Amino acid sequence: MTQAPAAGGRPATTLAGPSESLADFFRNHPERRYIMFGGKGGLGKTTFSAATGYWLARQGKRVLVFSVDPQASLSDIFQADIFGKGPVKVMDNLWAQEIDADRHIREYQDEVRAKILDMYGLDKVPEEIEDYIAAASAEPAMEESAIFDSVVDILSEGEYDYYIYDLVPLGHALYYLSMAKVYDEWIGKITHLREEMREYEEVAARMRREKEVAEDQILGELQYIRQRINAASRILTDRERTAFFFVLIPEQMILLDTARAAGMFARFDVPIAGYIVNRVLPDSLQDQDIPTYLRNRMEMQRGQLAQIDRDFGDSVLARVPELERDVTGLEMIERVAALMYGNGA
Ligand SMILES: Nc1ncnc2c1ncn2[C@@H]1O[C@H](COP(=O)(O)OP(=O)(O)OP(=O)(O)O)[C@@H](O)[C@H]1O
Ligand SMILES: [Mg+2]
Repeated sequence: MTQAPAAGGRPATTLAGPSESLADFFRNHPERRYIMFGGKGGLGKTTFSAATGYWLARQGKRVLVFSVDPQASLSDIFQADIFGKGPVKVMDNLWAQEIDADRHIREYQDEVRAKILDMYGLDKVPEEIEDYIAAASAEPAMEESAIFDSVVDILSEGEYDYYIYDLVPLGHALYYLSMAKVYDEWIGKITHLREEMREYEEVAARMRREKEVAEDQILGELQYIRQRINAASRILTDRERTAFFFVLIPEQMILLDTARAAGMFARFDVPIAGYIVNRVLPDSLQDQDIPTYLRNRMEMQRGQLAQIDRDFGDSVLARVPELERDVTGLEMIERVAALMYGNGA
């Protein structure tokens, strides 16, 4: 374990040993099979998820890279139509999957509707209840719950050696972790909605007859959701099997945000493996005839890279250069993998 004094003075303990490279990390911690790349929007999470999947697959591991991001960014990077299609094989040993969360929510709504119809022997869901279903499933917790469900389903299949979870930007991932709290608030709101619902006399009269059954069913549903949420956050915070990598770039604001987020993640007990610095302007540019603005940017990056060394030191597992184009397609992914993990084995 390395103590990295994060900017702001708060030490964030990481799993990386002294001078461990990213490749060493995977070799030294074979039990860590749930891999996540976190960071602010657009810094390289999807790129590194894909490149890590590629590298592990080339080592002979069976790997699934998956995301719940509606942006379908895995489809972009692998240049394949993956969204909502289950695990799609992109090369030997490597599968990619993009979950269609909206579809899961719709399926869930349909399920609730069917249950209500069944429970009350109705042909058609009364409008008030339709509103209630719509309101309940518009809750952020509902969306998260649908996502959690799919994530738990994927992870509990146990078919792969590695699961790489291509995360949404940081703020959202943090939100994910504070789910228990959000969930409690959600129950509060639902209870309130249920009370309001009773005001609709006509519906209430119909329901009174089977009130107890209805309450038990809904409560059962809530308890089920709570279990799923707990199962998903247990994986995210699994001390033995999870490794969470922070992606950052050499810019002051990003450094500050990363240090702050690392502190918060540590408080939620997320096992932080280490940091990966992306988009480093290559030193070789220095000797070339380059425009002043680029020279200035390099100077600025040098300052930030020195700061990163002071703040994160040995916890920085890789530095990846700025490339001349976006990373899409297996050839570019291979190149990034070589830059992250080295060309050997
Ligand atoms: N080292 C690099 N050199 C050049 N382009 C890069 C590099 N790393 C990432 N990119 C490009 O930057 C863009 C953002 O990267 P990526 O999609 O991996 O970020 P992200 O963190 O997953 O974003 P989001 O938060 O939106 O999910 C992509 O177009 C990607 O190809
Ligand atoms: Mg992404």
